[in-house]
Amino acid sequence: MSIQELCTVRDNRQLTGSVFALTLEAPRISSAAAPGQFVHIACGEARLLRRPISICQAHDGLLKLVFAAKGEGTQWLSRCSAGDVVDVLGPLGHGFDLSALGDRPVFIGGGIGVPPMLQTMQAARAAGAQPTAILGFRSRDAVILEDDFRAAGTVYIATDDGSYGIHGFVSDVLRAHIGAFTSVCCCGPKPMLRALAEIAQAAGIPCQVSMEERMGCGIGACLVCACALKAEDGAVRYGHVCKDGPVFYAEEVQW
Ligand SMILES: Cc1cc2nc3c(=O)[nH]c(=O)nc-3n(C[C@H](O)[C@H](O)[C@H](O)COP(=O)(O)OP(=O)(O)OC[C@H]3O[C@@H](n4cnc5c(N)ncnc54)[C@H](O)[C@@H]3O)c2cc1C
Ligand code: FES
Repeated sequence: MSIQELCTVRDNRQLTGSVFALTLEAPRISSAAAPGQFVHIACGEARLLRRPISICQAHDGLLKLVFAAKGEGTQWLSRCSAGDVVDVLGPLGHGFDLSALGDRPVFIGGGIGVPPMLQTMQAARAAGAQPTAILGFRSRDAVILEDDFRAAGTVYIATDDGSYGIHGFVSDVLRAHIGAFTSVCCCGPKPMLRALAEIAQAAGIPCQVSMEERMGCGIGACLVCACALKAEDGAVRYGHVCKDGPVFYAEEVQW
């Protein structure tokens, strides 16, 4: 069930040049939120369409969202400050299935796909698993949330230009260590998700992917977020990223 809540901004902090960590007082949404779900935010009265942002953390009545200020809506959000009130709808969608992770899951995020993996990794650890994170960024300047992930388990950081951590892509790191893991959960650009899904499939371990599509309503009513999935007979069927996802098992996705 989704909840519409008027949330007071507790804090809005700039993490890198364009990335912000927004903490909202959202007692009702945060108590209902599960790892991998998202919220839909009204970014000022002038913008009709809400903006989907993943839940990075939800606890003690607070919601932490980490977002890149790109276009009009997210730039508006980046200007919000403590005491402002934001209209939030959530928690929305279908998050990660935590029942099939095994005892050594790996959580992989690329760029702005990193934030939703934090709450998911923390949940796995709280359930007794020994989680690992593989986090990929363009360069050292773009690294976010490193300390939060380190507090939850083992962390590998990869940068495209080699300016920090391992020089290369998260897929290189996964390939090198795949034998150590019992499952893969990931969020990031589609080509990255596809590459990770292929590695997991070759190793015979389950892989869940969090997909991103443009959204309208966010609740399954408008078809803007349609994505191609595999039907049981191998044909193509269409699902809603907002309602059936954003998280899918990789083998369901028509890449
Ligand atoms: C399920 C989901 C979770 C997401 N989680 C995060 C997150 O945690 N952090 C983060 O920084 N970004 C996240 N995004 C992407 C984020 O929604 C877009 O960057 C944002 O909507 C862009 O809005 P804008 O006003 O800045 O851009 P504009 O270009 O002004 O937006 C115009 C319209 O296009 C839509 N749109 C533009 N880019 C995207 C996009 N990449 N995905 C979906 N809709 C888009 C907007 O929602 C808006 O309706 C997520 C997207 C989805 C679908
Ligand atoms: S955004 Fe409207 S159906 Fe998904």
